[in-house]
Amino acid sequence: MASLPQNHAALMDSVYRGQRHIYDATRKFFLFGRDRLIDGLGLLPGTSLLEIGCGTGRNLAAADACWPGGRLFGLDISELMLKSAKAKLGKQARLAQGDACGFSPRALFGQPTFDRVMISFALSMIPEWQRALAMGCEVLAPGGSLHIVDFGDGSGLPAIARKALNRWLAHFHVTPRLDLADTAWQIARERGLRVETIRGPMGYYQIVVVRKTR
Ligand SMILES: C[S@@+](CC[C@H](N)C(=O)[O-])C[C@H]1O[C@@H](n2cnc3c(N)ncnc32)[C@H](O)[C@@H]1O
Repeated sequence: MASLPQNHAALMDSVYRGQRHIYDATRKFFLFGRDRLIDGLGLLPGTSLLEIGCGTGRNLAAADACWPGGRLFGLDISELMLKSAKAKLGKQARLAQGDACGFSPRALFGQPTFDRVMISFALSMIPEWQRALAMGCEVLAPGGSLHIVDFGDGSGLPAIARKALNRWLAHFHVTPRLDLADTAWQIARERGLRVETIRGPMGYYQIVVVRKTR
């Protein structure tokens, strides 16, 4: 099994040690775009959904409410976040600790690929996020899709609000990935995959969907 980058795992645990208890209640005020992403999953009963960087399991629970009957899987590097996800999802989802940049889906979840993969506000916290994006593509089943939402360029926000937001995000070790769409295009092109992008209001968030046709 791929080994965990212990420093990053410890950093994430330290960021979320206390925050995880108030995470779901507070993040709904600034992690916009997640429900739009989930609405677009098109998950059919019996098919599989993996969330990379699943945090408290909020999105997997919401996906199940929106698209019932899917088989749910969650990966996170933080043991503490996984504790919260386990408490929320119980047996509804199979959860595992691992690094988004290099994990074995077969070893962790007993299957090599997934029909749907989502990555929500995690790439902005992963130093080698391009590798995580590539992993998301690698674990797609034929006909599958990877759905990503994360902070955008915020170019429609007043400059002062944008500056304040970026300062505050940095406090949580979050860096908006301004070249997310370009990088997704490049990674997808190398693998013969299709890409769609959506810019959220004022560029606050961005959604990228990568589709594998066969
Ligand atoms: C801002 S939270 C987002 C949680 C959830 N996806 C959501 O939208 O509410 C980012 C999550 O990514 C996880 N994470 C950060 N780096 C990771 C990595 N290298 N591999 C797996 N998970 C990682 C963190 O532990 C945290 O749970």
